[in-house]
Amino acid sequence: MIFSLALLSLAGAAFASSACTGTINSLSDVTAAVACTTVNLNSFTVPGGQALTLSLLDGTTVNMNGDIFFGNLSWAGPLFTVSGKSITFNGNGHKFDGGGPFYWDGLGGNGGVVKPAPMMKIKISGTYSNVKVVNSPSRVYSVSNPAPLVMTGLTIDNSQGDLPNSKSNGIAAGHNTDGFDVSTTDLTIQNSMIKNQDDCLAINKGSNIVFKGNTCSGGHGISVGSIDSDVTVSGVVISGNTIINNDQALRIKTKSASTGSTVSNITYSGNTATGIRQFGIIIDESYPDTLGTPGTGVKISGVNFVSPVTSITVNSGAQRVAVNCGSGACTGTWNWSNLKVSGGTAGPITGFSGISGFSQ
Ligand SMILES: *[C@@H]1O[C@H](CO)[C@@H](O)[C@H](O)[C@H]1NC(C)=O
Ligand SMILES: *[C@@H]1O[C@H](CO)[C@@H](O)[C@H](O)[C@H]1NC(C)=O
Ligand SMILES: *[C@@H]1O[C@H](CO)[C@@H](O)[C@H](O)[C@H]1NC(C)=O
Repeated sequence: MIFSLALLSLAGAAFASSACTGTINSLSDVTAAVACTTVNLNSFTVPGGQALTLSLLDGTTVNMNGDIFFGNLSWAGPLFTVSGKSITFNGNGHKFDGGGPFYWDGLGGNGGVVKPAPMMKIKISGTYSNVKVVNSPSRVYSVSNPAPLVMTGLTIDNSQGDLPNSKSNGIAAGHNTDGFDVSTTDLTIQNSMIKNQDDCLAINKGSNIVFKGNTCSGGHGISVGSIDSDVTVSGVVISGNTIINNDQALRIKTKSASTGSTVSNITYSGNTATGIRQFGIIIDESYPDTLGTPGTGVKISGVNFVSPVTSITVNSGAQRVAVNCGSGACTGTWNWSNLKVSGGTAGPITGFSGISGFSQ
């Protein structure tokens, strides 16, 4: 009896002490602050080579009250990690500044200086809202939520990386600046603005993923893939997005060498794309080639365009729709009656004859 009373009072003390407000003005404040279920994040600069890592108690509310900068140093990152369950993360319009121009050399993760990537690692459930990220060194968000998460009202602005710099040999200095890399379940990303130089969204595996009401500008469009071996992607909804001046609007890419994977139940609706430079829609099983010899180890089914119409305008010189399936790998009937694509030229549709309601 005495023992259990002692336990009760300990639990009570723990509860009482976490109902505090922690304030972070530098890395040295983090440990004490995350023992509280309200955390205020004030403006400061994280020293180069170090990370801001918030391992939060369940139910914590984080309020950003200012901008976070990261010192410039070549290392692997990530720069920011947040984890916890049932978190309310309020960015309040403040930004994380990755110092991209210090790292950018037109090579991204493919060479040159080592760049912190991803810049932002999100491992929370709950909501993550009104956060701005500018000038990521390379990939921006990696998301692996432990339970349902809504990411809303975000801004990613890497547009400064569209310009060449002294290290980039005349090409865009920013490279591999993926907006969201997602291998997860029960995630919604909505009402956000993404200006970058690579995939706006890349879904590598997972289910019940919704991407809606976002604007993607300057990059490589909205992508499922690239798909590796032994992964499943199912239940993806891509709706009401605006895609401006991207290489492609909507893409599914699977690696030609992959085996044992499935991609199914991918639904597009009400998306609008303009200024598309290479392909309006591309479904290609030959990655890393483009429209090369496709593999047969990734089964794709249930790729549909439902009401309202998805409307895509491609540039002259671009192809409207290209589909390149391995023999027997794409199956079923895909209803594309709510897809309209104009401009450019028709692309090849090979390895699959199950697309209904659409001709180009
Ligand atoms: C990192 O370098 C970039 C480009 O040189 C600069 O804009 C940024 O202010 C620097 N960041 C810090 C924290 O000094
Ligand atoms: C397809 O995915 C959606 C969104 O996740 C889901 O609501 C629906 O039940 C799925 N349909 C099938 C046939 O699995
Ligand atoms: C495709 O969807 C349209 C609109 O919902 C519908 O009218 C049509 O019957 C469907 N076609 C097939 C083959 O299911």
